[in-house]
Amino acid sequence: MSPERSAHPRVAFVGAGPGDPELITLRGLRRLRDAEVVLHDRLVPRELLDEAPPGATIVDVGKAPGRPCLGQGHINWLLVDWARRRERVVRLKGGDPSIFGRLGEEIEAVRAAGVPFEVVPGVTAATAAAARAGISLTQRGSASMLVFATGTDHTGRHPAALDWGFLARVEATLVFYMPVGSLRAITTSLTALGRDEREPAILLGRAGTAGERVLAGRLGQIAEDARAALFTSPAVLITGPTVAAASVPLSVRRVLADVGAQA
Ligand SMILES: C[S@@+](CC[C@H](N)C(=O)[O-])C[C@H]1O[C@@H](n2cnc3c(N)ncnc32)[C@H](O)[C@@H]1O
Repeated sequence: MSPERSAHPRVAFVGAGPGDPELITLRGLRRLRDAEVVLHDRLVPRELLDEAPPGATIVDVGKAPGRPCLGQGHINWLLVDWARRRERVVRLKGGDPSIFGRLGEEIEAVRAAGVPFEVVPGVTAATAAAARAGISLTQRGSASMLVFATGTDHTGRHPAALDWGFLARVEATLVFYMPVGSLRAITTSLTALGRDEREPAILLGRAGTAGERVLAGRLGQIAEDARAALFTSPAVLITGPTVAAASVPLSVRRVLADVGAQA
């Protein structure tokens, strides 16, 4: 660990990790402990907010069911407004800020306002979930490529604009973020265009938290299993050859064993 501490820029976009408070980086934690203002997403761990100094202003800018949520424009405006009034603002975002986190829009806003900023990367849901399942996302010889894709487009629907033909053909591990509402459409799009229905697939929900849920099976069946299990967001869907090695809790091992018996 470097003994040197870089100065806190006016705005630090900090990745909080996907739920386990221990998955923030050392630099992220330093920024948080030094913050005057913290603007945070809804899913960031409560324990991390407790790391902010007692006098810090904590602002929840996250989306919550049943509560009117702030639009992205409003969040951008708040960020710039706080940065003009305080020296050390932390924008704490779930996972890694640069992955499906609308970081680009927030950077654009602070840059346009002439506000100095830095991005402190975080552990993204895909790698945290893979770690929980005990799998590697890449594998020499069988998974030389890794794709992160969204399972939901900006309108909240199945992302028709993705190149499904490519995703169906490519020899890669595929990770879908925000897949739960479109699971059937995702799996059908992949298998109809050529991806093997029997490819191992795993759904990990709230990975690394007390509410963690895991469902493992085959690509052609997992949407039905998830529906039957009332699987809810947030979760990631991982599919590809390396998923076969998943070491998962007993309930899921049973599902895997059933699947193995059919193979
Ligand atoms: C708006 S995206 C933000 C992703 C985040 N920036 C990251 O790098 O993980 C939210 C999605 O991330 C995934 N996600 C976040 N936390 C998760 C967790 N603990 N377990 C599984 N998936 C998670 C889910 O797909 C969720 O719908």
